[in-house]
Amino acid sequence: MNRRTTVVGAGFVGATTAQRIVDAELSDVVMIDILEGIPEGRGLDILESCPVSGSDAHIIGTNDYKDTAGSDAVIITAGLARKPGMSRDDLLIKNYNIVKEVTENVVKHSPNAFLIVISNPLDAMVQTAYKVSGFPKNRVMGMAGVLDSARMRSFIAEELDVSVENVSAFVLGGHGDTMVPLPRYSTVAGIPITELLAEDVIERIFDRTKKGGGEIVALLKTGSAYYAPSAAAVEMLEAIYKDKKKILPCAVYLEGEYGIQGLFVGVPVKLGAKGVEQIIEIHLSNEERAQLQKSAAAVQELVGVIGVG
Ligand SMILES: NC(=O)c1ccc[n+]([C@@H]2O[C@H](COP(=O)([O-])OP(=O)(O)OC[C@H]3O[C@@H](n4cnc5c(N)ncnc54)[C@H](O)[C@@H]3O)[C@@H](O)[C@H]2O)c1
Repeated sequence: MNRRTTVVGAGFVGATTAQRIVDAELSDVVMIDILEGIPEGRGLDILESCPVSGSDAHIIGTNDYKDTAGSDAVIITAGLARKPGMSRDDLLIKNYNIVKEVTENVVKHSPNAFLIVISNPLDAMVQTAYKVSGFPKNRVMGMAGVLDSARMRSFIAEELDVSVENVSAFVLGGHGDTMVPLPRYSTVAGIPITELLAEDVIERIFDRTKKGGGEIVALLKTGSAYYAPSAAAVEMLEAIYKDKKKILPCAVYLEGEYGIQGLFVGVPVKLGAKGVEQIIEIHLSNEERAQLQKSAAAVQELVGVIGVG
């Protein structure tokens, strides 16, 4: 392939992301982790699937950032998931240290890469990668909105028994309880869901979407979601590599848009060959604006704790 993507973290999200990139022949892949043997072993396993899937993409696993040199994009999935007994701040600070160290290494070897951050708490981690990298804001983005809206699309499609392809869903704000789903802009074949579903059903779908990650953690007990998160990250990567100019909800650096200053928050953007090519501003009602401000305030609180505000 004539492109190289580095995936940092060879855990559940990292390995499935790497596999999806290779399967789609989007680029060659370098998967890096601090664990010895794991990235190499999982990389080799994916490579050996290529003759069957018919992919000529190449993949290696490594512990050495030298192997990642000159990457076109770097997807950061390194980090801990929350365990019983850990506070939110414990996770925040541990993952801040990991994402900071990872970003410093990435920048040294791939100064022109796009950064797609997945590690949680998402909005604070992408803000960390932005500040530490010193990269322009069009090259740094966080994956959350594509996943959150994919979850909502699945629930709407199930409720109405229609193809998922007909369903668009619109989610703004931070990744977490404060995300802001917008019914007016969520449609089935262009028809707003407000015309197709009762208010209480829409409320139930919103609530399930907001708690979508938690629902899976509760079922798995030992980890969090990775199939849908990796699919979402790869949709963003594909939009950039293929210059698709696709409108996707991503966590991006806002400088006054939506009345938010100097903070990464999820909003619709155009993704193409230059990365974040445009931030799309839509009209919000007073209530929606207030919800978005609340969501931004939650992100602000976290970035304040780690000093990357
Ligand atoms: N943004 C989202 O929507 C979303 C969705 C799912 C998961 N996540 C987050 O993604 C992260 C990864 O989830 P997972 O399920 O793959 O976890 P995982 O534990 O399976 O994998 C994490 C990997 O990161 C590695 N790692 C830790 N420190 C590192 C470092 N300094 N350098 C390189 N690698 C390092 C670990 O060794 C491990 O292999 C978590 O923070 C999780 O909360 C975010």
